[in-house]
Amino acid sequence: MNVCIIGAGYVGLTTAAVLAKLGHTVHCVDENEQKMAALKRGDVPIYEPGLAELLTDYASRLFFHHDKQTYVQEAEVIFICVGTPSDSKGKPDVSYVNRAIADLTPHVNDKQTLVIKSTVPIGTNERIYNHLKNEGKHIRVVSNPEFLREGSAIYDSLHPDRIVIGLRHDDDRSLSVMQTLYAGIHAPYVVTSLSGAEMIKYAANAFLATKISFINEIARLCDAYGVDVVDVAKGIGLDGRIGPHFLQAGIGYGGSCFPKDVAALQQMAYEQNVRPYMLEATKTINDTQLNWYVQKIKRTLGHMSTKRIAVLGIAFKPNTDDIRESPAISLIKKLHAHGANVIAHDPKAVLPNVDVKQAKTIEEAIAQADALVVATDWDEYKQLNWAYVKQMMNGNVVIDGRNSLPREAIMNAGLNYIGVGRG
Ligand code: NAD
Ligand code: UGA
Repeated sequence: MNVCIIGAGYVGLTTAAVLAKLGHTVHCVDENEQKMAALKRGDVPIYEPGLAELLTDYASRLFFHHDKQTYVQEAEVIFICVGTPSDSKGKPDVSYVNRAIADLTPHVNDKQTLVIKSTVPIGTNERIYNHLKNEGKHIRVVSNPEFLREGSAIYDSLHPDRIVIGLRHDDDRSLSVMQTLYAGIHAPYVVTSLSGAEMIKYAANAFLATKISFINEIARLCDAYGVDVVDVAKGIGLDGRIGPHFLQAGIGYGGSCFPKDVAALQQMAYEQNVRPYMLEATKTINDTQLNWYVQKIKRTLGHMSTKRIAVLGIAFKPNTDDIRESPAISLIKKLHAHGANVIAHDPKAVLPNVDVKQAKTIEEAIAQADALVVATDWDEYKQLNWAYVKQMMNGNVVIDGRNSLPREAIMNAGLNYIGVGRG
């Protein structure tokens, strides 16, 4: 099929690469001229494992443009993958989607299928359909939310747990279009209304965020009662009704989606006079988790103004260079504000304008450090030689903000280990 993708970010580029691998011809359009020029040269603007390789392998079917018109006109399927960030009140800002739709409206025709992949508030797909109809465009509109995780985006897109398709009740053609598009991907289909698909996306993210906040609250209780939260997560996670995933306690969830999507669903609830008690609690726990942990670090280290602290991790999670809403950066800022001499490190992400030095190597970060804090659970940090770390450091405190380090090995090296709710 001939596909046009509007918005070449984490989702748009991954979708483009995967659809090209499946045999389709894909034209990516983005209003960011610099990004498109880089992609045309073969430079990939983000770090996502396997993405650069796919873009190279299927370059003969992948094209990057700044101008939409021709590629929208010629496409059988048009995807909208532009961002939907939070506005200052936590409401989703759909202006990028609105602009993309306004731009393409004159160029679409009744034979095409318009697929909304961006995460959009309930009712947006229906509104887009009605707008196009009012403009005399009887194009089919499909809601096809995305569930990929950054860091494993290509794998997740090729092996999704499910494919959710939202359709209008009178649309008897789009499901087979989507099945043809995704032929080669084996996953159950969930077919629902346009609004049903929108709600599934928000509910999925809100549920995952709630699991994290739940285990973070249990971690605080574990600390108070001298219990190890890792044992508790294992003990409850083996119950098939609960499941082992998203029960890793830490310094809180971040990224471009959980914080904004929990806030968005909360706002949508208030708009309908529904009090979202669960979402409020999920957000409150996450908003207070870092302060709770910084208090714990302060109790361990005493006055921070005399301390050199190596913070390992800048990205919001491992295997990505994405720093949007990164808890690691919030932690770096808080430690710096407490007067600590912070030196940060990340294998891929770059510290934005913060008055803190970024080390090029882990060695440079930990040399002479009084404490080492792991803020992002990259494999590089889990695999450190702890005897060597002890030699390099001035102090002996290892603070595991992601409960991802080998506690025994660290303690055997003569270091003090402080986790999150580890008793
Ligand atoms: P992103 O910010 O990485 O990329 C968005 C791209 O769209 C940018 O390159 C921007 O220049 C471009 N753009 C914006 N308006 C445009 C327009 N009118 N015309 C052409 N290009 C335009 O965003 P993302 O992280 O890929 O997220 C996109 C959507 O997918 C969001 O709604 C997000 O909630 C959802 N989502 C993201 C992820 C993720 O892991 N990042 C996962 C699932 C769903
Ligand atoms: C998340 C969802 O997992 C995806 O399904 C969804 O498509 C995506 O949001 C989205 O809508 O954008 P992502 O944000 O890329 O994906 O990464 P996650 O692996 O979910 O991690 C999010 C945050 O939660 C990270 O800060 C991570 O460190 C934290 N986390 C995750 C925990 O603190 N504990 C856990 O057990 C798991």
